[in-house]
Amino acid sequence: MAQEQVSSTADHKSIAHENGELSRKATDGETEEEELTDAIRATFFSVPVPAQPLKEGWEIPVIDLSLLHSPNTHSIAVHQIGKACQEWGFFHVVNHGIPENVINDMWKAFDVLFQVPSHERGKFDHGPFLPPDIMEMLSEKLHSMPKFGESRDTIRFTELNPDDEKAIPNAPHESRAPAIVFYKAMRDVGFELLDAISESLGLEKEFFRRATGNNLLVNSSLHYYLPYHDGNNTMGLNPHRDIDTLTLLIQNDIVGLQVLKEDRWVDVRPLPGSLVVNVGEVIQAFTNNKYQSVRHRAMLNKEKARFSIACFLFPTPDSIIEPLPHLVSDDNPALQPTCNWETYFYNYFASSLKL
Ligand code: OGA
Ligand code: NI
Repeated sequence: MAQEQVSSTADHKSIAHENGELSRKATDGETEEEELTDAIRATFFSVPVPAQPLKEGWEIPVIDLSLLHSPNTHSIAVHQIGKACQEWGFFHVVNHGIPENVINDMWKAFDVLFQVPSHERGKFDHGPFLPPDIMEMLSEKLHSMPKFGESRDTIRFTELNPDDEKAIPNAPHESRAPAIVFYKAMRDVGFELLDAISESLGLEKEFFRRATGNNLLVNSSLHYYLPYHDGNNTMGLNPHRDIDTLTLLIQNDIVGLQVLKEDRWVDVRPLPGSLVVNVGEVIQAFTNNKYQSVRHRAMLNKEKARFSIACFLFPTPDSIIEPLPHLVSDDNPALQPTCNWETYFYNYFASSLKL
């Protein structure tokens, strides 16, 4: 299944690529907004990133989501999910229940969306998820910031409500219905996982859904990573952590995503049909760092294009983000102040940039 959907996408892309439509690089023709987010990402995460070689043979855990649905195995799955959040912050989910055709149709929609020339995408591509005033303040500083090019093409949807049949109104017609169905399915798996994560911490099942305002809205990045030949000096996506509650991602069969584990990068090898899930900043903050929002990055393949679609579950702006009392003690003080998400999100960027 994955093979089939991927090769049709790849054929499509190489045609578009030959037409020059998709050959955008960070250093030529990148919009100011994109350049800014590259610089911001590099600035935030400019903590030393280890130079040690890739850790071979390590794999992120694989969670069989169907185990959650049987009373005999539910608690085993909850335990596995909690352990994966604690030890890796990243895991594959298989048997997630999203029908193959929903995912295949989304890859077709992906093709359609990337066929739209960059200069015509403004009506549906919402650009970086940064607070507007941060964007504004920073655009002045851009010229003095070092360039940390990332090479890829990205389309973003912000605050998409998958319950709204009229969502993403200005995207090409044939991409809209499959995208909405896909985002709804991804969000529903996200809900199931949030419930399991709550349970794994001894909380009532719906704790995280409620605490984050029911995460009705989804943000999404659709990434198209062209092959690149400059000997590992240019990245697809610089190291970063996800500033959301939970991320769910699909990818084609080209390896590129890497996660940091014990100071070594580990490949997230594509597993046909799986969703790659990672803990975001919000769960890390609630759990007082028990569950990790780990640093990750995307490398470029020298020969083949890589595609991914990431869905980010965001809290609503008024959601209160606060460490769980049972995970705070004298020995383990609260690592984050309590505040609402809007403030948290703003401060995250502002403080990293020392504004
Ligand atoms: C992201 C991300 C990884 C990938 O969009 O935040 O980490 O493989 N994407 O595209
Ligand atoms: Ni990410």
